[in-house]
Amino acid sequence: MKRITAILIIVLSVIIYGQNKIVINADLGKDTINRNIYGHFSEHLGRCIYEGFYVGDTNKVIPNTRGIRNDVIAALKKMKVPVLRWPGGCFADTYHWKDGIGDKSKRPTIVNAWWGGVTENNSFGTHEFMDLCEQLGAEPFISGNVGSGTPQELAEWIQYCNFDGISPMSDLRKKNGREKPWGVKYWGVGNETWGCGGHMRPEYYADVYKRFATYMQGVSNTKIFRIASGPYGDYYEWTEVLMKNIPLNLIEGIGLHHYSVIDWNAKGSATNFTEEQYFKTIKQALKIEEYIEGHSKIMDKYDPNKKVALVVDEWGGWYDVEPGTNPAFLFQQNTMRDAVLAGVTLNIFNNHCERVRMANLAQTVNVLQAVILTDKEKIILTPTYHVMEMYNVHHDAVLLPSVVFSDTYKYGNDEIKSISCSASKDKNGKIHISLVNIDVNKEKNVQIDIRGQKVSSVSGRILTSEKVQDHNTFDNPDKIKPVIFKDVKLVNNVLNVKLPPFSVVVLNLE
Ligand code: AHR
Repeated sequence: MKRITAILIIVLSVIIYGQNKIVINADLGKDTINRNIYGHFSEHLGRCIYEGFYVGDTNKVIPNTRGIRNDVIAALKKMKVPVLRWPGGCFADTYHWKDGIGDKSKRPTIVNAWWGGVTENNSFGTHEFMDLCEQLGAEPFISGNVGSGTPQELAEWIQYCNFDGISPMSDLRKKNGREKPWGVKYWGVGNETWGCGGHMRPEYYADVYKRFATYMQGVSNTKIFRIASGPYGDYYEWTEVLMKNIPLNLIEGIGLHHYSVIDWNAKGSATNFTEEQYFKTIKQALKIEEYIEGHSKIMDKYDPNKKVALVVDEWGGWYDVEPGTNPAFLFQQNTMRDAVLAGVTLNIFNNHCERVRMANLAQTVNVLQAVILTDKEKIILTPTYHVMEMYNVHHDAVLLPSVVFSDTYKYGNDEIKSISCSASKDKNGKIHISLVNIDVNKEKNVQIDIRGQKVSSVSGRILTSEKVQDHNTFDNPDKIKPVIFKDVKLVNNVLNVKLPPFSVVVLNLE
């Protein structure tokens, strides 16, 4: 009752004085923020795998371990990658895994039909991907070929990766140098099967899914987690038909894809954008909340106990490629706009962690909203990298329910809430709050009331810059990086925070 009265007082003061206030209930947490929400995605697309992760095991110029770049691994380990999705995307439904195993000199080449028609030499295959995941300390998430593959091919891939006993596939794995199975838990059953994965109707895919999933079984000690190819954005009919037709014992997760694109025919430059384009991109990003709630509502109808996870297995900003680069390679720069986009999206995922239990940013290196860009032996960490690194305090922490009263950021006749927030408590009892000021023009004062736990100290880091278009370059790689945040005062368990325009802040309370 006391809490409700306090919230009513806050609502009134917000209405009267237009302040930004947040109430965090530190004693009411119940759901855990699955670390896999901070997952990544790497496709055989442009320079993501080749040049990005993998430079070949005979490369003497770029330091590597069995062909995998040491600099990229070191940076990603610091950021913490819990799970990595591979080999696509659209590429996955053209990929036949047996092309990518065994003696590299004998592996067949194929044409990467979706991404520029370039020749794929298959030198990076299952063993190399598993090596990458082991070096990263990340769980592998393999997206199986449904569009042009067969249930047998996918079942054999699982046996190759996971079976400990004697079988044709586990014997083949051993012959190729890996004695013990890897134990791959996460398996995608096709990708965008409404589009590049086969242009199927939901009813047809639901049947195809059941056929494939029936033969995708846990072997040895690995219980597998099957993720259905899910809808995009507001394609609610897709979720409805899948949830209605697929028995709960055949499915553990359903995907959801959402790219923040202003207009598919005029995406605009990644760096040279107007305030209007900034506003529209962030508005698109915020839509993920509506989509998560819409799909979750349908899932709740068929799965009230929330057994099936919503897996946002592709998300991020999508702009024009950098001038002079191959349009099919989707290489784009990354600015403070992307930092804001990542910050608000991750807050939304955290706040919906009871159903969203995995997400995969597209894509890790050199493609779309990448966290790392490479140029031969050089790498840069993007603003999105820094947000992912700052937010890693939320991994496996307990979500603390928060109530946010925010003023709005207006552009033309439109407006969006200017403050985004999520909070969690880690296993040591520390509270972490991630805040984003979306408003590109105005600094914001935010009062944060911590209820249910005494707080005695606060520290934090901030990511911001002079211009929202700012980005790191190979000549100036550290232009944008997190620094200590000082504009926070703690008085009587209330924090008074001053957030600069387009900034991302993470606070740590003890
Ligand atoms: O991430 C790039 C592409 O976007 C993926 O291959 C596909 O799944 C989506 O359409």
